[in-house]
Amino acid sequence: MPKKAIITGATSGIGRALAIEMHRKGYVVGATGRRTKRLESLKEKLGDRLFIQQMDVTNMDNAVSKLGELASRMGGLDIIVLNAGISNLNEGDGRGNDLRVIDVNIRGFANLAAHCYNLFEKQGHGQLVGVSSVASLFGWGQSASYNASKAFVNTYLQGYRQKANHTDADITVTNLIPGFVKSEITEGREGLFWIAPTEKAARQMLHAIESRRNTAYITHRWRIIAWLIKLSPQWIWNRM
Ligand SMILES: NC(=O)c1ccc[n+]([C@@H]2O[C@H](COP(=O)([O-])OP(=O)(O)OC[C@H]3O[C@@H](n4cnc5c(N)ncnc54)[C@H](OP(=O)(O)O)[C@@H]3O)[C@@H](O)[C@H]2O)c1
Repeated sequence: MPKKAIITGATSGIGRALAIEMHRKGYVVGATGRRTKRLESLKEKLGDRLFIQQMDVTNMDNAVSKLGELASRMGGLDIIVLNAGISNLNEGDGRGNDLRVIDVNIRGFANLAAHCYNLFEKQGHGQLVGVSSVASLFGWGQSASYNASKAFVNTYLQGYRQKANHTDADITVTNLIPGFVKSEITEGREGLFWIAPTEKAARQMLHAIESRRNTAYITHRWRIIAWLIKLSPQWIWNRM
C-alpha cells in the first residue's frame, strides 16, 4: 500500500517540489495552500494519486476540518509535512508583520501539528514533519519574528518527539532545517550563498523523511554553518 502524505504550502517553492518528488516516488500526496489555481495546475500536471485542498492555515478550525476531509478522500494519513510559512524580511518589522508571521509559522503550524499528533496516537502510527530554518539558530534584527517562529518549531518538535517516545504508537517526529533554497521567499534577495534548487532540497527532504531522521539540514552542508552558529558567543549576535 502506498503511504499517504499531506503537505501544507504545496503551491510553490519547497512544498511544491516535495509534492512532485513524493508523487514521483509513488506516494499518495495531498497538496494544500491558499492559491487554488496553483493547486489545480499541480493536479493537472500530476494526475492520479495527487489530491488537492485549498486551505489557509491561519483559519484554525477550518484548517483542521479541511485536513480531515482531504485525508478521508486520500484514504488515510501516514505523514504530515507542515511546510507552509512566510517571512517578513524587508517588509519592515512592525507589530502587524510580526503577528502575521506568528499566525502562520507558529499558530498555524502548532494547530495542525497537535491535531495530527493526536490522530497518529489514535491510529497507532504516523510521521510528523516540520519545516524549520537555519534562521532558527540566531536572532536577526530584520526578521526577528521569523527567526523566533522557527526556533519555536525546533523546540516544539523536540517536545513532541519526547512525548512520542512515551506512547505505544509508532510515531516519528522529523525536523527539516533548510538553509537557503530557491523559492518565492528567497526571490530577489541579494548576498545569499549556497542556494539550493528546490528539486535538490526536496530530494534530501524526502530522504530524511524516509530514513525517519529526527533532524536534517537541507542541504547537508548547512550542518557546518549550524555548528559554527552554535559555537559562536552571544555577544557577536547582539552586536551584529
Ligand atoms: N526558501 C528558503 O530559503 C527557506 C529557508 C529556510 C526555511 N524555509 C521554510 O520553508 C517553507 C517553505 O517556504 P518556501 O521557501 O518554499 O517559500 P514559498 O515559495 O513562499 O512557499 C510558502 C508556501 O506556504 C504557503 N502559505 C503561506 N501562507 C499560508 C497560509 N496562511 N495558509 C496556507 N498556506 C500558506 C504558500 O501557499 P499559498 O500562498 O498558496 O497559501 C506557499 O505554498 C517555509 O516554512 C519557510 O519558512 C525556506
